[in-house]
Amino acid sequence: MGSNSRKNHIRIVIALLFACFIALGWLYRSSSPVVATAGAEPAPTPKRASTPRKVKYSEFPHDSKSHKIDCSSCHKFPSDNWNKVRTGDEAFEDVTEYPKHETCLKCHTQQFYKGAQPAICSICHTSPSPRNSARHPFPNPREIFDLSPKGKTAESDFAVGFPHDKHIEIVSQNVSRTASFVNAAFVRTDRRRAGEESCSVCHKLQMPQGKSDEEYVTAPPAKLGDGFWLKKGTFNSSPTGHKTCFTCHSAESGMLPAPQTCSACHQLKPAAPASDFDAKLAAEMKIDNKMMMDAWRRRDSSGKFSHEFFGHVEMSCSTCHNVLTMNTADPKTKRVGMASCATCHATATSDDGGALNYEADMRKKSPTFECVKCHVTFGKLPIPDSHTKAISAAAGK
Ligand code: HEC
Ligand code: HEC
Ligand code: HEC
Ligand code: HEC
Ligand code: HEC
Ligand code: HEC
Ligand code: HEC
Ligand code: HEC
Ligand code: HEC
Repeated sequence: MGSNSRKNHIRIVIALLFACFIALGWLYRSSSPVVATAGAEPAPTPKRASTPRKVKYSEFPHDSKSHKIDCSSCHKFPSDNWNKVRTGDEAFEDVTEYPKHETCLKCHTQQFYKGAQPAICSICHTSPSPRNSARHPFPNPREIFDLSPKGKTAESDFAVGFPHDKHIEIVSQNVSRTASFVNAAFVRTDRRRAGEESCSVCHKLQMPQGKSDEEYVTAPPAKLGDGFWLKKGTFNSSPTGHKTCFTCHSAESGMLPAPQTCSACHQLKPAAPASDFDAKLAAEMKIDNKMMMDAWRRRDSSGKFSHEFFGHVEMSCSTCHNVLTMNTADPKTKRVGMASCATCHATATSDDGGALNYEADMRKKSPTFECVKCHVTFGKLPIPDSHTKAISAAAGK
């Protein structure tokens, strides 16, 4: 009884608050010009696009011209709920909640009061109404967000620019000095080259097979044959949030960039290059792991390359990745080149066992031959120059 009447009381208060909100909204609306309508831009010569893009109020785009304003005008750091989303020792000051209504209202009063269930509410709310404030989890932390219906299909507007060159040394020093900096991730430190012990602070094999007998991520069909099915330990992880970064970049330490300067690390994503990924095949595999699927979708060198595979796992990361020339926000600079594979997979002739030679020869014989050793979809396309060059180089030509 008591709790029921308290609930009712809360409901009434919320309803009243909401009524105030609407009233305020109308005030705002009558005192400020309504933006978000065509022609609101003070353009001297109105440009007429041949096909005006349809405005969609159910998704928030950071790359919209009008939204390219200071990140902090919408995102508050830290969020009020930072120590509720994570608790105890896990908690640290972080941005873990959606921007509040005020941050949109100055431009979107019209969209906020449109119809019974305005589309714009669904960006943040699950079943919006004046009485229901239930929200999707905020995209950070990803561990919670990824499991929600919204999180399962969400795609970030941003890429993170992480300058490896400025960190590798500091991070490795930290690793050797304070083990508490990371959660005991140095299983194979002894096998890593100098300087590379730091990599595993932020990059770990995703779902390694280890000593398990089960080599596939999900159960393959009985008649797989030579067909491709994703194996465990294929991908390396990357940070999905602020946990590692904010151990150093915090108000306490004063190390810049400060945590509230979002744009020092987040940059709008450039167009993604073509990737060696087959959405239909991936769907058949029913992989319920967002991080893994995101990594696969980004593979633009070799969709099949597995880090844990016995022929690869012992190699130093720098055999294939040059972190000194990599700008993590620019996919072109992250690409792994054929030269990194050719040392083992290109030989003088096919008879010497080179997978690349074999496939190139087969392609010469039959233009429809598909190269499947390293590729999921690229293998149907014409042979790129990088491949022919690698074969010539291996033959000493
Ligand atoms: C006009 C308000 C506004 C501004 C300005 C803004 N954001 Fe956001 N941001 C939002 C909203 C609303 C969401 C939730 C969107 C969603 O979940 O679909 C969000 C979500 C995010 C996310 C998670 C979703 C994603 O695309 O990765 C990141 C990261 C983010 N913002 C970073 C930034 C950064 C960095 C800046 C500054 C360059 C910025 N935001 C500026 C309103 C804003
Ligand atoms: C400074 C003014 C301003 C603020 C603040 C602002 N918006 Fe917008 N927004 C606009 C304008 C203007 C448009 C019209 C389309 C455009 O310019 O791209 C727009 C477009 C949109 C769209 C449609 C996107 C599309 O093109 O399909 C959504 C959704 C949206 N805003 C959500 C929000 C949310 C949610 C907030 C608060 C977190 C917010 N906006 C804050 C000005 C603003
Ligand atoms: C940009 C994200 C965002 C959008 C869009 C948004 N809300 Fe909210 N809403 C929030 C947040 C965050 C809170 C919690 C505010 C707080 O705790 O101070 C909230 C709170 C509420 C509450 C609880 C009472 C209150 O005002 O604090 C209701 C009810 C509500 N929203 C309904 C709506 C409706 C209806 C719409 C569409 C007209 C809408 N919201 C659009 C983020 C949003
Ligand atoms: C402090 C954390 C940190 C350390 C230490 C670190 N990295 Fe990274 N690395 C990142 C972040 C953040 C990204 C960008 C991830 C993203 O785009 O989502 C990244 C991206 C990468 C990528 C590109 C991934 C892709 O999606 O294509 C490679 C390769 C990489 N790192 C290799 C290394 C190697 C090798 C080392 C050790 C020499 C190393 N990293 C050390 C944080 C770290
Ligand atoms: C034999 C070459 C090779 C070695 C050694 C290697 N990688 Fe990779 N790595 C690749 C390839 C190929 C890709 C996929 C690139 C693409 O298609 O975009 C990749 C991708 C990645 C990615 C992006 C996520 C993924 O798996 O697609 C990260 C992060 C990464 N590597 C980190 C590392 C780290 C850390 C090490 C050392 C422990 C390492 N790699 C060793 C070849 C290698
Ligand atoms: C061990 C401490 C430490 C950790 C962990 C750390 N950083 Fe840094 N970071 C630094 C220091 C120190 C600098 C200043 C380096 C300099 O200016 O040479 C810096 C500089 C930067 C810069 C600015 C570089 C420039 O060009 O001015 C960015 C961006 C950055 N860090 C992002 C990140 C991100 C993203 C993460 C997490 C993936 C991270 N950092 C984790 C210590 C750290
Ligand atoms: C020191 C660098 C750094 C700063 C400052 C920073 N972030 Fe991040 N942020 C990262 C890294 C690294 C990740 C994980 C990699 C990724 O998402 O690509 C991340 C992830 C996120 C995510 C998780 C989901 C997603 O789609 O990327 C959100 C949301 C987010 N940041 C928002 C913000 C906002 C808002 C601010 C400013 C209040 C901010 N960040 C400041 C480095 C930073
Ligand atoms: C040993 C592994 C391996 C084999 C075998 C292989 N590739 Fe590749 N392929 C790569 C790598 C690594 C890249 C990305 C970097 C490069 O092109 O140097 C790539 C890139 C590609 C691209 C994208 C080129 C671009 O510039 O966007 C195509 C198309 C392609 N390969 C087709 C083929 C064809 C056709 C065959 C068979 C004759 C083949 N590959 C055999 C590893 C392989
Ligand atoms: C140090 C030698 C070495 C290098 C460098 C190397 N590999 Fe391999 N790779 C092997 C060996 C050994 C095997 C197992 C024999 C085989 O299948 O040819 C193998 C197997 C493979 C397989 C088949 C795995 C499976 O599950 O059957 C793929 C795909 C592959 N490599 C891709 C690559 C790509 C892409 C690169 C470059 C980014 C690369 N490899 C670099 C040694 C290497």
